Amino acid sequence: MCGIVAYIGNKQAYPILIDGLKRLEYRGYDSAGIAIYNGDLKIFKKKGKVKALQNEVRGKDISGTIGIGHTRWATHGEPNDVNAHPHVSGNGRLTLIHNGIIENYETFKKALIERGHTFESDTDTEVLVHLIEEIQKRDKLELEEAVRLALTKVIGAYAIVVMDKDNPDILVAARKDSPLVIGIGKNEFHIASDGKAIVEHTKKVVYLKNEEIALVNRDGDLSIKTINNDIATPFIQELDLELEEIEKGDYEHFMLKEICEQPKTVADCMRGRINAKEGWIKVGGVQNLFQNFSEARRIIIVACGTSWHSALIGEYLFEELARISVEVEYASEFRYRNPILDEKDMVIAISQSGETRDTMAAIEMAKEKGAMLYGIVNSVGSSIARLTDAGSYIHAGPEIGVASTKAFTGQVTLLTMMAIHLGYQKGTIPRSYYLQLLDELEEIPNKIKQILAKEAQIKYLAKEFKDSNNALYLGRGYNFPVALEGALKLKEISYIHAEGYPAAEMKHGPIALIDENMPVIFIATNKSIHEKIFSNIQEVKSRKAKVIAIVNEGDEAVKNLADYIIEIPVTDEPLTPLLSVIPLQLLSYHIALMRGCDVDQPRNLAKSVTVE
Ligand code: G6P
Repeated sequence: MCGIVAYIGNKQAYPILIDGLKRLEYRGYDSAGIAIYNGDLKIFKKKGKVKALQNEVRGKDISGTIGIGHTRWATHGEPNDVNAHPHVSGNGRLTLIHNGIIENYETFKKALIERGHTFESDTDTEVLVHLIEEIQKRDKLELEEAVRLALTKVIGAYAIVVMDKDNPDILVAARKDSPLVIGIGKNEFHIASDGKAIVEHTKKVVYLKNEEIALVNRDGDLSIKTINNDIATPFIQELDLELEEIEKGDYEHFMLKEICEQPKTVADCMRGRINAKEGWIKVGGVQNLFQNFSEARRIIIVACGTSWHSALIGEYLFEELARISVEVEYASEFRYRNPILDEKDMVIAISQSGETRDTMAAIEMAKEKGAMLYGIVNSVGSSIARLTDAGSYIHAGPEIGVASTKAFTGQVTLLTMMAIHLGYQKGTIPRSYYLQLLDELEEIPNKIKQILAKEAQIKYLAKEFKDSNNALYLGRGYNFPVALEGALKLKEISYIHAEGYPAAEMKHGPIALIDENMPVIFIATNKSIHEKIFSNIQEVKSRKAKVIAIVNEGDEAVKNLADYIIEIPVTDEPLTPLLSVIPLQLLSYHIALMRGCDVDQPRNLAKSVTVE
């Protein structure tokens, strides 16, 4: 959730650290801090965004060729200057930045206080740096060994970098359940929690593995050990990332850029996997595991947030097209519920980042129980991609806006292809329907483009509804998860309270909230249950709500009933979510913008939630 960046070499560290922090800011932005060594140790920490840190530093001496930097998403201790990282050891010798949580820090803190340590912050991180200092001092150890011994004692997740002012020619980094990548330059190293922070400096990287400790020095040497003190060989690879992928380009916000990229990202997800003309579809992982999928007692999909909404769409798709029973679980609930699960089950984990702690823990548990694991992930090489037995990437490219957009459509595209593939191979969909679905799927990028062209109309609607305090999103069938996603987008970035509900279920509660001030957004493109949706709209209208309806082009009936409509191109019902979600993304974006909200970095949220 937090962002880590560190540098050692012969260039000035400050600009490198600040640029890196800005690139990582989407991961967490409660506070930011840096420590640079140049004969003496300079530490600057500031509540708020990286910009606030830059203002703090302005005019001060920040020279030095070794340094560490951090952006924080608060876990232990409120977001303020004191709790911001880096944290310093009691004797002032070590500085440390940390992502993750040290679960047993209270025990150490108590013992350290008894032995005379004093703490300034409320963080678990400060305890860890004191612990390393104590071990280093007591046993007169090299930093790397002191770090290693300290880490054998702690329980929890961490990615850390430690700087020692008595030995400013080295940095020590380590990780467990939180990613860390080391970029190798010419006699310099860049360490970061995410390749995005270092891609402009080098593409030669080593991904540190779980429970590994790396030592880098100014001579360009890198050595890696495990926490158990075994030597490990660094595996150098090429960072699969282009700089323009992580820049806003001509767009005002990453979120808008990512919404507008969807014709391309959906096409990228399908590339090489489908050919309607030749009548084939093949999703690599599904092809290899066809037997496992078709013989699975059930598929359980685990995910969080927007990915959980994709999972719900997956349930409709797999059950309808492939006739496989599916259960969708919040990863955080599933992992603590002692579910009935064994090798007859197939577990699919969906995650944009591939690092969400709860999703990782859920699949670790499923693995222990013997279930087959499949990952649907965006971030290449991420932990979930590595933890699962098989899987598929959605190829949406880096998603930086905290509110997920293109990853959602990528996940749904992949689930759709998987369900069609399985359904056709199992014989649960006839060839004619199969071919029709392939044709329609290939048309989706074009149809998304047509919806994006309606941005001006959606902006107008945003103006009408920007001052609302609440909103209700209603949909049925495939559009029910879309209603949930639409509501989530609105609350995440505009802070308007919004709820998504199955349209018919609305009568059992939310209808009590409806009056002339309540905008109700109907996602009403379903052909199979059109009359039922129509009745639901009438129920809402007769209670004076303002209705915005997302309808199929040419749907005159709803047009005459709703206050506002957004028409989207017709497609086959299982593919509808790929289109009906687009106007909802744009609507939230424009409402948030008009309300003056920080669209890309909404308050309290983080892009990648690496704590429970
Ligand atoms: C956070 C993000 C959401 C995301 C969710 C799950 O809450 O802000 O956009 O949907 O985590 O993340 P994942 O990376 O596992 O899809």
